[in-house]
Amino acid sequence: MKLKHVLLVLSAALSFNAYAQAPIVIKFSHVVATDTPKGQAAERFKQLAEKATNGRVKVEVYPNSQLYKDKEELEALQLGAVQMLAPSLAKFGPLGVKEFEAFDLPYIFPSKTALYNVTEGEIGKGLMKKLEPKGITGLAFWDNGFKVMSANKPLRAPADFKGLKMRIQSSKVLDAQMRALGANPQVLAFSEVYQALQTGVVDGTENPPSNMYTQKMHEVQKYVTVSNHGYLGYAVIVNKKFWDGLPADIRTALDKAMKEATTFEKAIAQRDNDLALEAIKKTGKTEIYTLSVKEQAEWRKALLPVQQSMESRIGKDLISAINKEAAK
Ligand code: LMR
Repeated sequence: MKLKHVLLVLSAALSFNAYAQAPIVIKFSHVVATDTPKGQAAERFKQLAEKATNGRVKVEVYPNSQLYKDKEELEALQLGAVQMLAPSLAKFGPLGVKEFEAFDLPYIFPSKTALYNVTEGEIGKGLMKKLEPKGITGLAFWDNGFKVMSANKPLRAPADFKGLKMRIQSSKVLDAQMRALGANPQVLAFSEVYQALQTGVVDGTENPPSNMYTQKMHEVQKYVTVSNHGYLGYAVIVNKKFWDGLPADIRTALDKAMKEATTFEKAIAQRDNDLALEAIKKTGKTEIYTLSVKEQAEWRKALLPVQQSMESRIGKDLISAINKEAAK
C-alpha cells in the first residue's frame, strides 16, 4: 500500500475511534444551590453515572437556575435542550399533570414514612406514568422536607397571614393554601424570590430550611415559623426520547446510579434541613419559632379544608388513596 493510502486508512480509523468514544452528554439542570440535598444528589449522580459507564456518559450539572428558571426548564426538557431535571412536585401543574400537586396538600403526610409509602409504592409509580404522554420519563422521587413559613412579622396564628403577599410555586394547591390563611399568593420563579423579598414585592414565603438558608432568604426575613404544614420533594425526570434511545447497557447503568443517588439523597435531606435551621438561628438575624400544639391545631383547622376544596383538581380518589397509604 502506498504511504498516502496508509495515511488515509489510519486517519479514517482514528476519526471512527473518536466518534465511537464521544461521550453521551446528559445536561442536568436545576434551580437550587449545590449545597442543598437536591444539589448534592445531582453531583453524586454525576460521579456514579460517569464511573458506572466508564466515561461513556458525561453528566453536566447546571445548578442555581444557571441555564433555565422553573417553567423554562420543563420546556427545555421537552424540547431536548437538556436531558435531566429534578423539579419540585409543585411545578408539574403547568405541564398538565395536576395530580402531582397532591404532594402540596397541607398536612397530607404526617411523617416521612407516610411519604415514602406513597412515593415508593403503586401511587408513586402511577404518577410517574402520567408523565409519559408528555414525552417525559420519571426516574425517582427525591426528598427535601417539610416547609417552614417566613415573613417580617411573627406568624403564629392563621390571622397573622391576613393581607400578606406570599410567594408560592406554580401550584394551585399552594394558591388555595395561602388563600385559606387570608394571604395573597404570588407565583414567582425560585431564582426571583430573594430579590422579591428584599424589595418588598412579596412579604413572605415558604420553603424547607435548606432552600431558605442557601438562598440567604433569612437575611431578608426576620421571622421563621417551624410549622411543617406542607411537604416539598422532587421528581427526577428525563426526556423520554433521549432515554429510550440510549443503548440498553447504558440505561441499566444509569438506572443503578440513580438508585444509589436516591438512597444518598434521602439519607441527607433531613439532616441538611436540621443543620440549615440551626445555621439560620446562629446568624441571630432571624427569630425561629416552633408552633405549640395548640397553635398547630389552629393551623390544621384553617388548612385542612384545602384537601377537600382541591378534590376536583387533584382527584378525590387519589387524595383518599394517599391518606390511606399515609395512615398505614
Ligand atoms: C421553590 O421553587 O421554592 C423550590 O421548589 C425550589 C426547589 O427546587 O427546591
